Order: sequence, then structure tokens, then C-alpha cells
Amino acid sequence: MKMAPMPLPLFFFFFFVFLFPSLFSLQENSQLSELTTPPSLPSPLAPALFVIGDSTVDSGTNNHLLTLARADHPPYGRDFDTGRPTGRFSNGRVVVDYLALRLGLPFVRPYLGLNGKVEELVQGVNYASAGAGVIFASGSNLGMHLSLKRQMQQVSDTYERLELGLGEVAAADLFTKSVFYISIGTNDFTHYYFRNTTNIRSLYLPWEFNQLLVETIQHELKNLYNLNVRKVIIMGVAPIGCSPHYLWEYNSVYGECVEQINNMIVQLNFAMTYMVHKLNMELDGAMFTFCDAFEGSLDILRNRDRYGFVSTTDACCGMGKYGGMIMCLFPEMACKNATNHVWWDQYHPTDAVNRILADNVWSGKHAEMCYPMNLQNMTTPKT
Ligand SMILES: *[C@@H]1O[C@H](CO)[C@@H](O)[C@H](O)[C@H]1NC(C)=O
Ligand SMILES: *[C@@H]1O[C@H](CO)[C@@H](O)[C@H](O)[C@H]1NC(C)=O
Ligand SMILES: *[C@@H]1O[C@H](CO)[C@@H](O)[C@H](O)[C@H]1NC(C)=O
Repeated sequence: MKMAPMPLPLFFFFFFVFLFPSLFSLQENSQLSELTTPPSLPSPLAPALFVIGDSTVDSGTNNHLLTLARADHPPYGRDFDTGRPTGRFSNGRVVVDYLALRLGLPFVRPYLGLNGKVEELVQGVNYASAGAGVIFASGSNLGMHLSLKRQMQQVSDTYERLELGLGEVAAADLFTKSVFYISIGTNDFTHYYFRNTTNIRSLYLPWEFNQLLVETIQHELKNLYNLNVRKVIIMGVAPIGCSPHYLWEYNSVYGECVEQINNMIVQLNFAMTYMVHKLNMELDGAMFTFCDAFEGSLDILRNRDRYGFVSTTDACCGMGKYGGMIMCLFPEMACKNATNHVWWDQYHPTDAVNRILADNVWSGKHAEMCYPMNLQNMTTPKT
């Protein structure tokens, strides 16, 4: 590691993570030990699952950071396998938990909670950090987080450790056969563009801002490819214009979504589909796929009765109109049963929604939302 002088936030980061790792990981280890071995051990469809992203897939990274964006307290996790908070922004599982099980892998553990042994890395790690954005500054108002760029550095570090531990050929083979899952971009809207941070809305028109996001993600996909990664799921941004927070903030009367926000997300997802299509043509052997979480979520909102949802506008856990005014802080703020709610807190869906989206990523079970293929196509050996 280079010993250049560190900026202050980075100093605190190292201070907390490296001086008090035991303090931070004690509780978590006891929770996870029950989960690291699946009950039956079918041969996994991929050697590992690596996760990059934000609060949609954070599985405990932010428990190690000084930030307001944390889900390490009840009622988060109350419907999770352990019934306890883990750092996941959900009452239960997040999408990648369902996908890990589909692949025959254990739940993916946060990189920051590990001590760096190769055995801990070979089935995959989760780098995702709540509040993180594609753009470095996104989410800074919440406190510390690991942006896309920082997470990519951790991916490189992981690769180097695998090379040292397994040898170059085995490390390359592991990355080639593994599945990478990227879910990021929401905070670039919620905690950057729509807050008009640093006057961004005067500097970038919506389509220009989207272009910036797409180009940055494209750049990182090429970096992954150069690390021998071939199988990548890129999850699009969900209709956060329908989230309780924005219904509250924009004074939605009947629960109608905020079009201005959703339109921008639709355009982003469209541009992402095209970019991923182009990369697949350009990069030999690349199996990149874009999953349009917006389409998948609209299907749920439109067909709520079929899925058994009673509320599509109100957060199960929150306060104010639609439960969208403040974040979920105490068990007393939560509804009794989250299974008939689409939204768990002011920004995040419930376990029930995550399960449906995961089914769609896996096989398009309820709605086709992945182009040009779903995860099952990607991991089923060709016969
Ligand atoms: C963004 O902020 C700048 C000044 O900070 C202001 O001039 C501009 O009108 C704002 N844009 C929007 C869309 O709110
Ligand atoms: C929540 O409701 C669903 C059906 O709406 C039911 O199957 C489930 O048992 C309930 N869970 C709890 C904890 O009450
Ligand atoms: C993916 O698998 C489905 C069946 O699950 C099949 O119908 C479809 O043609 C496959 N798509 C590709 C691109 O291989």
C-alpha cells in the first residue's frame, strides 16, 4: 500500500476499519456463521458471486463506516433468515441473496468484514455500500460510503490476493466463471442530481447527466473485462419517482408517481441497454446483461393484486405522509406485516418485491426484464 498522506475522511475510515475490526464484526460473524453453509450442497452454477453497488444490495458494508446510511438496527432484518439486522436495507433479503441461493452459493458477505484470507474470497464478496453512486460525490451528504470507483479498487485488490493465493491461471479462471452483479445509480439521482448539489442541474441537462453515468459505468465494465470478468448483470435503476420519499416530497395527492424523476430513469435505462448491447459486440466473450428494474417494478405496481400487495405507495416503516418523510429508525415505526407492502422504507422495497425481481433476473418468471439474457441463460452449461 502506498503511504501517501490521507484525506481526513479516509483516515477515519482506516481508523475504524482496521483498529476496531473485531468490534465491528463480532455480532455479524455470529449471524453469518449459520448461513455460510447451505443445507444441501448442490454443485454451484458459478464458483462465486461478486456484488458491486449501493443500498439496494449492501449486505453490511456500511456497518463499518461513519454514516447515516445504515440498516444495522431493528426493524431492519426482522424477516431475514436470522431475524436480525445485518445492514441490508430490507425487512428480509435483498435481490442478491435470492440469486446466491439460485446459484447454489452462500449469502455473499461484505468485503469490509473479512480479514482478507483467500478462502473468504473464493465464493465471492459484496463491496456494495449504501449511499454510493456512480459519481464520486453522490451521497456525500449522508456521510462515508464507498463510491463505484472505490469498490472497483477493492475488486482489483481481491484479484491480486487471489493471484497470490491461487496462482494467476486459477485466479483468472475464477473471475471468468463467476457472476458479477452491479446495482448502482439511484443515489446519483436522489443524493446528487435532484438535490442540485454543486449546482449540477445548471451544468448538466438530464440527458447529459445520464450520458455521464452511462459512460462511467461503461468504463468500469471494461475494467472488469480486463480483469478477466465475463459474466455481468447490470441492474437498472428502479422507479424511485414512485418511492414514498418522493411521493411525500412532491406532495403527491393520490399516490401518483413523480414523472420528472421517472422519465429521467427510463432514459438512463434505455441508454444502458444500448451501451451493454454494444459492449457485448465489442468485447470478445463478454456476457453482459442489463436488467431493467424499472420495467420489473412497474409490472409489480400495475398488477399489485396478482402479487398480493395491498399498499403500493406507503412505506411499511416510516413517518409522515406515505411514510416518506423520515427514514426508518425504530421498530415502533413499522407496520405489522410487510409482505403486502411494496415499500419497506422511504426508498427501499420489501423482501417480497426483491424476491419477484430476483425471479425475473433469474428466468424472467413474472416479467422479462433482462437483455439480452437472464442469469439462468448465463450460468447454464451449453449442452
Ligand atoms: C440549481 O442551483 C443553482 C444555484 O445553486 C440555481 O441557479 C438553479 O436554478 C438550480 N436548478 C434547479 C433546477 O433547481
Ligand atoms: C403476513 O401476511 C401474509 C399474507 O398476507 C401471511 O401469509 C403471513 O403469515 C403474515 N405474516 C405475519 C408475520 O403475520
Ligand atoms: C434463455 O433461456 C430461456 C429459457 O429459460 C430461453 O427461452 C431463451 O431462448 C434463452 N435466451 C438466450 C438468449 O439464450
